[in-house]
Amino acid sequence: MWFLVAVSLFAGAQACVPSVTTVSGTHAPVTVCSGAMIFADDFEEFDLEKWQHENTLAGGGNWEFQYYNNNRTNSFAQDGKLFIRPSLTADQFGENFLYTSTLNIEGGAPADRCTNPQWYGCERTGTPNNILNPIKSARIRTVNSFSFRYGRVEVRAKMPAGDWLWPAIWLMPAYNSYGTWPASGEIDLVESRGNRNMIQNGLHIGTQEAGSTLHFGPYPDWNGWETAHWVRRNQGGYDYDFHRYQLEWTPDFIKFSIDDVELGRVAPGNKGFWEYGGFSKNPNVLNPWRYGSKMAPFDQKFYIIINLAVGGTNGFFPDNVFNPTPKPWSNNSPRAATDFWNGRNSWLPTWMLNQNEGHSASLQVDYVRVWAL
Ligand SMILES: *[C@@H]1O[C@H](CO)[C@@H](O)[C@H](O)[C@H]1NC(C)=O
Repeated sequence: MWFLVAVSLFAGAQACVPSVTTVSGTHAPVTVCSGAMIFADDFEEFDLEKWQHENTLAGGGNWEFQYYNNNRTNSFAQDGKLFIRPSLTADQFGENFLYTSTLNIEGGAPADRCTNPQWYGCERTGTPNNILNPIKSARIRTVNSFSFRYGRVEVRAKMPAGDWLWPAIWLMPAYNSYGTWPASGEIDLVESRGNRNMIQNGLHIGTQEAGSTLHFGPYPDWNGWETAHWVRRNQGGYDYDFHRYQLEWTPDFIKFSIDDVELGRVAPGNKGFWEYGGFSKNPNVLNPWRYGSKMAPFDQKFYIIINLAVGGTNGFFPDNVFNPTPKPWSNNSPRAATDFWNGRNSWLPTWMLNQNEGHSASLQVDYVRVWAL
């Protein structure tokens, strides 16, 4: 009798085993128990307390062609899924606007503020050679609601199809503890390209490829990402169905998986990412991670970002690539956005925006889940 009471009390108490995972943000749990779910969204509704929109023309530092805004044409929850859907800026402002007008996106309400002034991100003036960002899209983040250090992440998502679309689900450092990008790191859980038939060196690098990457290095021109980049090909196409993109991030390793099959991992030695990335070869550069653990810069809190970008000139869409209709801009063109827009008869039909509410060109997310280690 006494024994039974004791057992049931113990089972009901759900002992909390402390975790190495740490969290912060308005939607972070007060207590972190080992193995517990610490953040989740099933997108039954679009919770803008969890997801802050970016509002910027900045182009991601890559002169990408989209204008990120907070607008339910471009981001919404429907049938339990998040959709990030591209639209044409000209649909809202008219085509002439792109070539002649000044767009200032700064707003007075807290939710309307321009979130990134870099690279002419808050105000631009369109000219015939340098048009305003021709695509509207969305980028949302948990920067205020949830950031964490170490844990497991699973995002079930369907990649978009449509030429030159660049979806991404990734994590950025909450406090830049080791300095500005890429010194404090970047964790790219999944990126892909929306082109259905894009071939480079005999390999399909469009919808049939999904990739995961870490960015880390002492300054922008010296980034060790090539030592921590993996792709997988799926002949069905990552746009065809939902897949589970997974991150396991511990004090010893970072591991990426798709549908429970490991894609790649990094487990740095005691000399950490400085040695792993080959930076120790240059004695003249100071190691920004010298006071961190061997996982530095990946030993600090990161937050989650979900976005759909378009194009850009950083080479994510290479110039020498085969596509059924050729790439309309070159990556060294000073008028890349204009060239892209002028080529819309080739890429716009592939987005199929007029069918099924533009679902096929949308990045769709069924859920985001994060667990403590
Ligand atoms: C939202 O986007 C749609 C489509 O581009 C546009 O018609 C509408 O004016 C936008 N709403 C706001 C408040 O900007």
